[in-house]
Amino acid sequence: MAGQFFTHKGVMFSTLDYLPDTLSYVENEFQVRDDDVFNITYPKSGSTWMLEILSLIRCEGDPGWVRSVLNWDRAPWVEYHLETALKYPPPRLLSSHLPIQLFPKSFQHSKAKVRIIYTLRCLKDVLVSLYHFSQILHFFKTPESLDSFIEDFLSGNVVYGSWFNHVTGWLGLKDNENFFCISYEELQQDPHGSVRRICHFLGKELSEKQVDAVVENASFQSMKGNKMSNFSQMSDKYMDHEKGELLRKGTCGDWRNNLSEVQSQRFDTVYREWMQGLGMTFPWD
Ligand code: A3P
Repeated sequence: MAGQFFTHKGVMFSTLDYLPDTLSYVENEFQVRDDDVFNITYPKSGSTWMLEILSLIRCEGDPGWVRSVLNWDRAPWVEYHLETALKYPPPRLLSSHLPIQLFPKSFQHSKAKVRIIYTLRCLKDVLVSLYHFSQILHFFKTPESLDSFIEDFLSGNVVYGSWFNHVTGWLGLKDNENFFCISYEELQQDPHGSVRRICHFLGKELSEKQVDAVVENASFQSMKGNKMSNFSQMSDKYMDHEKGELLRKGTCGDWRNNLSEVQSQRFDTVYREWMQGLGMTFPWD
């Protein structure tokens, strides 16, 4: 089913289950709580993986919860699972792909201790992952060609808007105590160390055995085989399961198999322009 789209405050959303009123409610009325933990990402940056890690940390590595409850019920996306988020008993684990300017104002205007975990991923791998997933998930616009998709992506003419705006907006909080930033690449390179750092940020002490259990149960293979985590339970209304899966490759650098030299250089030029003022370097730089 081809999707329909609308623009809310300059950011594109699908008409499938997204409503301008809900987005306004989330921005203006939704009350964050001190004990909330938010899993925030630009789409295709490792949201589902981080959701699994956070779920498992909450259960000290025990896979019972991740094997029995759908991930979008364990950490609902506030912008389209609002009712689940509102009914969630504290302490809440919540997800969002919203750019910071559409995130609940109660976060910015309060002294909330709410903790934000922001996962980001190499821009070119996000593009490739999104290109493939856009042919499967109806929330995203089906690309006409890779070249036209690259231009749409680089200019922010995609669902959830510009990667650059998202990343630079959220990373403006990088010096805040309640903000923790990690990359998909770090999760890949050092999963145990990454889980320990996340635990430290959350003030949650896990034994080495429990950290091992988190890493093992959140591995690509474990998640691929877990129907509560692999999106196989998503309705056909939203996802064409014949065309592919969310857990597609799960690697770093797949862009090399998909982008030409010219396409890659196009990214590098735009990337340098946007990121030079940020004063941060990333594993893919
Ligand atoms: P690929 O399409 O490159 O395979 P999101 O959850 O933000 O939509 O991101 C999806 C991407 O994360 C997909 O990337 C998916 O394979 C990858 N992913 C999901 N779980 C993973 C895991 N446990 N380990 C590594 N990659 C994972």
